[in-house]
Amino acid sequence: MPEREIITGLDIGTSKVCAIIGEVGESGQVNIIGVGTSPSHGLKKGMVVNLDKTVQAINAATRAAERMAGTRVSSVFVGVAGGHIVSFNSSGVVAVADSEEITHRDVMRVIEAAKVVAIPTDRQIIHALPMEFIVDSCRGIKNPEGMAGKRLEVEVHIVTGRVTALQNIVKCVQRAGLEVRDLILQPLASCTSVLTPDEQECGTVLIDIGGGTTDLAVFYEGSVLHTAVLPVGGDHFTHDLAYGLRIPFAEGERLKLLYSSQGDTGNELPVDKLQSILYPRGEEVFQLVEKELAKLDQSGIAPIQCVLTGGASQLRGLTDIAEEVLGLPVRIGTPRAVGGLIDIINSPAYATGIGLVQYAAKQGLAGEETSVEGPGLLEQIIERITRWFKDFIPTE
Ligand SMILES: Nc1ncnc2c1ncn2[C@@H]1O[C@H](COP(=O)(O)OP(=O)(O)OP(=O)(O)O)[C@@H](O)[C@H]1O
Ligand SMILES: [Mg+2]
Repeated sequence: MPEREIITGLDIGTSKVCAIIGEVGESGQVNIIGVGTSPSHGLKKGMVVNLDKTVQAINAATRAAERMAGTRVSSVFVGVAGGHIVSFNSSGVVAVADSEEITHRDVMRVIEAAKVVAIPTDRQIIHALPMEFIVDSCRGIKNPEGMAGKRLEVEVHIVTGRVTALQNIVKCVQRAGLEVRDLILQPLASCTSVLTPDEQECGTVLIDIGGGTTDLAVFYEGSVLHTAVLPVGGDHFTHDLAYGLRIPFAEGERLKLLYSSQGDTGNELPVDKLQSILYPRGEEVFQLVEKELAKLDQSGIAPIQCVLTGGASQLRGLTDIAEEVLGLPVRIGTPRAVGGLIDIINSPAYATGIGLVQYAAKQGLAGEETSVEGPGLLEQIIERITRWFKDFIPTE
């Protein structure tokens, strides 16, 4: 096996497609060696609406990253988001095969058991993330491997996506001549790159505000408890300016960025006027987040802090609105714990792209030979479930 592995993350966003090439050292440390971005015109609210334009942007971003890294890319880890994502919690239980010791296989079996829930045929599981294991009624176990026990239970957070929406993403990547190694939920990737280990432990909501979507993930005791993708993002602020001031979208975007960088727009527009348009949209975004967080009430867990990331988190004054609406301390998060081209990637807009590389490296996916083929996507899932059933139901 080579000493260093190359992992490429592909963040196909509503505003930009971003390819990040990382080199993973023996200790798991990620060094970024190539970054390429291209404006994206083929997505709406995180979903592909134009294949050709998306393929072009993927090609442009990947070629730029390859040139920077001086290497060729053949396979990628792809981020997914969009309004088609639905997440929920589920649980599974199995009898431990050898009651002396819980093995890795028992852990895999119980996770598979939790995945066997009634999911509509037009949906597919993207992740089954263990929140806690329960061994013979003893709760709160993060890794039961090696423990003694008879009955193993798990609570998992399941993330599903609409099969056709996922297939369209896979199709675009394949048409760009790349193999899809795995699909990863975008907020999960952003969490990996942005949250400190401490933040992942003590109850944090991460909010990634992009161009077309706002993705959120709640972390507690190192596990993901809740994820959601809301169909509103930075572009809605621009639309409001364009509509309110009766100017073209591009002009609204220019004014928004100008205000963000210098706090006013020179003599072009009074600051009060600008803020009176941007503020209600900011309030709406965080009220939607608040509604999502209310779904956690049953579990008795409430986040104690908030981290904002994504390009639109840089909008001047947005952290203040977040603090006001959510009533939590808020900070802006940029990718951390990476080496390499840190000057280039030191922006919240790269949180997902960098996180895809780090997430894949952490899961040890770099060397695995599995890949997701477009038309075979469903078959793979069915095959996995069939394999699980074979483990349980004697064939003779
Ligand atoms: N300095 C800034 N101030 C305010 N807004 C900004 C700034 N920089 C970028 N944005 C906004 O951020 C948004 C793009 O963010 P990002 O690059 O994270 O989106 P994306 O990942 O392509 O989209 P999505 O994740 O929604 O699919 C745009 O709406 C853009 O106007
Ligand atoms: Mg994004």
